[in-house]
Amino acid sequence: MIRTSSADVGEDSGLLQSRIKALAKQMNAVIVSHNYQRPEVQDVADFVGDSLELARRCAQTEAEIIVFCGVTFMAENAVILNPSRQVLLAEGTAGCPMADMIDDVDVREWRERYPGAAVVAYVNTTAAVKAESDICCTSANAPRVVNSVADDEIIFVPDGNLARWVAGQTTKKIIPYPGFCITHRRLTPEHVRRSRQLHPGAPVVVHPECLPEVADLADAVLSTSQMVRYCRDSFADTLLIGTEMGLLHRLQKECPGKTFFVLSPGLVCPNMKRTRLGGVLRTMEERRNQVTIPEVVRVKAQQALEHMLEVA
Ligand code: 13P
Ligand code: SF4
Repeated sequence: MIRTSSADVGEDSGLLQSRIKALAKQMNAVIVSHNYQRPEVQDVADFVGDSLELARRCAQTEAEIIVFCGVTFMAENAVILNPSRQVLLAEGTAGCPMADMIDDVDVREWRERYPGAAVVAYVNTTAAVKAESDICCTSANAPRVVNSVADDEIIFVPDGNLARWVAGQTTKKIIPYPGFCITHRRLTPEHVRRSRQLHPGAPVVVHPECLPEVADLADAVLSTSQMVRYCRDSFADTLLIGTEMGLLHRLQKECPGKTFFVLSPGLVCPNMKRTRLGGVLRTMEERRNQVTIPEVVRVKAQQALEHMLEVA
């Protein structure tokens, strides 16, 4: 039997948003959303941001419950940093394929292969991988984190593209793990060249998860929230965006009067798009999808994340 809920199809976004907000107040819950979520999900959230901002916000919240509209590793970050809170992942099946390209056994093997190298883990990793790492980073602080590490050799996991971009910003020897984002990898240099021809003079802004040959063609390589600030401060009235297209909602809201084009129609993260308003409401009503981490893993992962927060 397919179970239906009061939040199933038929209700408009505005009504669902009002019900979610009322329930959040009643439950003492804060709703946070990543920049790639659907527009109507971003609009119901108390805070929308990039991975670094969301981790900081969740670490500091006074709310009893955190409703996370994003993917699993992001909700895990909230549990790691604020274990006294209940963290509900708004859509329980929303994972990150890149985070699943490495596990804790891989990290231990790479340490054996490169003795003496430190391990920097992108936050797009499971708690178990963070627990095996020396320090975490996000796309907003990766070069600063890498430069803060005392060792000269760094195993950078799991994103090989971010690793190669960071290698160009540091004198340290970066050993990249061969993971990648299935969404950002779809963006090619040809997409960038074609968009530049269509919109001459428009700045190209891309995420560091893009291929290095794409990053090389960009005017700026930035995290998602850094892109919002860049576009807000830019004198250009048209900008070309190389990241998941959910960011365009925030860009349009925060930069009125400017026009944004996504560099490829393939820039959609299917996992980020799984979260819908009906699911958010059901998750809250049933207090389902609670994210938990074994305490021994959580404590070690917390050290790696807190080292990052001390640096940047
Ligand atoms: P940001 O931290 O830049 O928002 O990126 C997260 C992510 O998953 C990019 O694909
Ligand atoms: Fe993971 Fe890429 Fe989706 Fe970000 S955009 S959550 S890295 S699959």
